[in-house]
Amino acid sequence: MNHKVTVFGAGFVGATTAQRVAEKQLADVTLIDIIEGMPQGKALDVMESACLERFDAKVTGSNNSADCRDSDLVVITSGVARKPGMSRDDLLKINAGIVGTVSDAIKANAPNAIVIIVSNPLDVMTYLAGVRLGFPKNKVIGMAGVLDSARFRCFIAMELGVSMRDVDAMVLGGHGDDMVPLVRYATVAGIKVEDLIPKDRLDAMVARTRTGGAEIVNLLKTGSAYYAPSSSAVEMVSAVLNDEKHVLPCAAWCTGQYGVNDMFVGVPCVLGKNGVEKIIELKLTDDELAQLNKSADHVLENVKNLNL
Ligand code: LAC
Repeated sequence: MNHKVTVFGAGFVGATTAQRVAEKQLADVTLIDIIEGMPQGKALDVMESACLERFDAKVTGSNNSADCRDSDLVVITSGVARKPGMSRDDLLKINAGIVGTVSDAIKANAPNAIVIIVSNPLDVMTYLAGVRLGFPKNKVIGMAGVLDSARFRCFIAMELGVSMRDVDAMVLGGHGDDMVPLVRYATVAGIKVEDLIPKDRLDAMVARTRTGGAEIVNLLKTGSAYYAPSSSAVEMVSAVLNDEKHVLPCAAWCTGQYGVNDMFVGVPCVLGKNGVEKIIELKLTDDELAQLNKSADHVLENVKNLNL
């Protein structure tokens, strides 16, 4: 039997996630949204591409949150997106209500699912979902580090004119302006980027990565990024459903790692069928660790604003 993935939110991120999961034959997909007809229309549109894209996965749309029943994995993309000038934190209160309701539906109908959160502000929504779901914390994972790292890798590859595939890099911390791109660990085919790119250019790429989401929002004017965010979520979906033990930076529940306690924050994880199977503890410099803790403190402040 095929895996079942439910995607909550049939906006650009959710619908593109559903499309990518189907095209990669990872699972049958149920796409759920409150807007009548919208998830059904997008699901049917994806299905009508199946004979051309050559996939057999089934994609269905629904307005009923109970249709996530018995999912192996659920992706939460529900919520409103940023408008120009809005920070991710501005979204906090609006999206908390939405993600809370969705979490309750998952808890009631798909109690064994692994849940990947994509809604913003990412780390806080992951915390909220973690509390409302009450699932073992390894089964609740926030998507941000994969996206932020993909952006950093893209900028490095464009700067050097080399294949995107040759660039490896990791961004830790919260999905906000104080995220922590780890320059020391960024490589091109195993060569340190610090040996290839002057420091001022690297600093500029770090800054661009930190504001990568806003750069797209400012260009689009009517929404936020969705191609790279959906690719990032699907990278995690694949790691879990195929038990890949893929090492990816994700917002994971920390219990002392990197000095972070009882908090979801972006750290390097091994992802497999049990969700976050391990958090890898790198040796960071004092400065990197201070940046990571500052980022975690910012998440904590916003968590407190939720009054959970
Ligand atoms: C971004 C938004 C979606 O980083 O957080 O593109």
